[in-house]
Amino acid sequence: MVNKKNSLQKKINDRSAKVVVLGLGYVGLPLAVVLAEAGYQVTGVDPDQEKVTLLNQGISYIDDVDIEAVKLLTESKNLLATSDFSVVAEADAVSICVPTPLRKTRDPDLSYIVDVSEAIAPFIHPHMVVVLESTTYPGTTRELLLPKLIEARNLTVGENFFLAFSPERVDPGREDWTTVNTPKVVGGITPACTEIASAFYEQAMENIVSVSTTEVAEMTKLLENTYRMVNIGLVNEMAIMCDRMGIDVWEVIEAAATKPFGFMKFTPGPGLGGHCIPIDPLYLSWKLRSLNYTARFIDLASEINTGMPRYVVGKVQNALNSRQIPLKNSRILVLGAAYKPDINDVRESPALDVIGLLQQNGAEVTYHDPYIPQLSQENIKLSSVPDLMAAVESVDCVVIITNHSEYDYQQIYEKANCVMDARNALGSIGRDDPKVTRL
Ligand SMILES: NC(=O)c1ccc[n+]([C@@H]2O[C@H](COP(=O)([O-])OP(=O)(O)OC[C@H]3O[C@@H](n4cnc5c(N)ncnc54)[C@H](O)[C@@H]3O)[C@@H](O)[C@H]2O)c1
Repeated sequence: MVNKKNSLQKKINDRSAKVVVLGLGYVGLPLAVVLAEAGYQVTGVDPDQEKVTLLNQGISYIDDVDIEAVKLLTESKNLLATSDFSVVAEADAVSICVPTPLRKTRDPDLSYIVDVSEAIAPFIHPHMVVVLESTTYPGTTRELLLPKLIEARNLTVGENFFLAFSPERVDPGREDWTTVNTPKVVGGITPACTEIASAFYEQAMENIVSVSTTEVAEMTKLLENTYRMVNIGLVNEMAIMCDRMGIDVWEVIEAAATKPFGFMKFTPGPGLGGHCIPIDPLYLSWKLRSLNYTARFIDLASEINTGMPRYVVGKVQNALNSRQIPLKNSRILVLGAAYKPDINDVRESPALDVIGLLQQNGAEVTYHDPYIPQLSQENIKLSSVPDLMAAVESVDCVVIITNHSEYDYQQIYEKANCVMDARNALGSIGRDDPKVTRL
């Protein structure tokens, strides 16, 4: 048994291990590239044929993933893509990076993990390590994934088959902390699983943080994201309270942030966005509900954060009101549709809620986003306006939802008739000008 572990360990150490990454999205593609750059032979598997074709043509379709790196790795055949799950039969190591969204009822949707585990189960074999990277509630790896993978196979976890959880911590758009230098938390079903999975990632990443169980690793990710969600909820409520008292919340935050210890800066905004912060904590509260416990911080922060788009629309309405313009039939330009600056991701973006609410109130809404040419959601079908400054000049109010760094905020301020700035993108520009309202 020890030999089996050692033979896998040896393939990992000399990087002759064959690696399969399941799911080639925002998490899977960067991971596949990093593992291939470390010297592993990597095959990415994704049912999305378009991604498979693009990758095999050497084209990166994720902004953060270097175009040249993908080209080189695919040309040298160190990185390949397919929709055929049978490649797992030849794999020594498998990373699972499939989506973990919420259902319409706001409960966890584990169907992608179930589907992928059923797709690879026939190809699972001895002497391999499987790592789940998708964010999920504690217990998923042991209770859901493990039985599906080893059932009806003569495998013993920790002896001839190794399973671990390792949360992805990628922050899209960020250049200082990447997949390679962000510490990687790894927790296995058994100590041997932790050891093998840690060794697997150690070849490609700078700093591995081994923890004792899959549950600790799963909960670590949820603590990180719940921490952000709750603190954003706190600072959003702080913005609402400051507004009631006529205090500039942005000035308060900057002053508080001068404290060199015991304070971490969070900023208010029009609501949470992205695939992680608005969703992951709800995996935790859902799990706790099944244990008759209410995750109160999560519930409260969620309530405050989901109310922010409506709060922003209220501020727009007040700003227009002071200019004798009703919101109904007013012309509004929303700046930025992405959920955060300088990326092209609209998943859960508060811009969608703000646009929807403005439309429901009868406003004529247009938007501009340099990264998102089209919005094609259930209720919102819009194209980004072609001439930004012409649009800024022509509308009744410009609403800044995403503070993309390429916008010329001085010019926007000068040309606009009225600005509602939900991100303090203007900073000190127009601070005392009544045509500018801040969150
Ligand atoms: N995006 C982030 O910033 C981020 C950060 C940390 C963690 N995560 C977590 O990582 C996981 C993946 O997120 P993502 O942002 O990469 O999602 P994504 O939607 O960008 O990518 C998921 C990919 O999985 C593919 N897929 C769907 N079903 C599949 C299957 N059965 N087999 C193989 N592939 C399948 C999809 O086609 C897609 O390409 C989620 O659990 C997410 O919460 C995301």
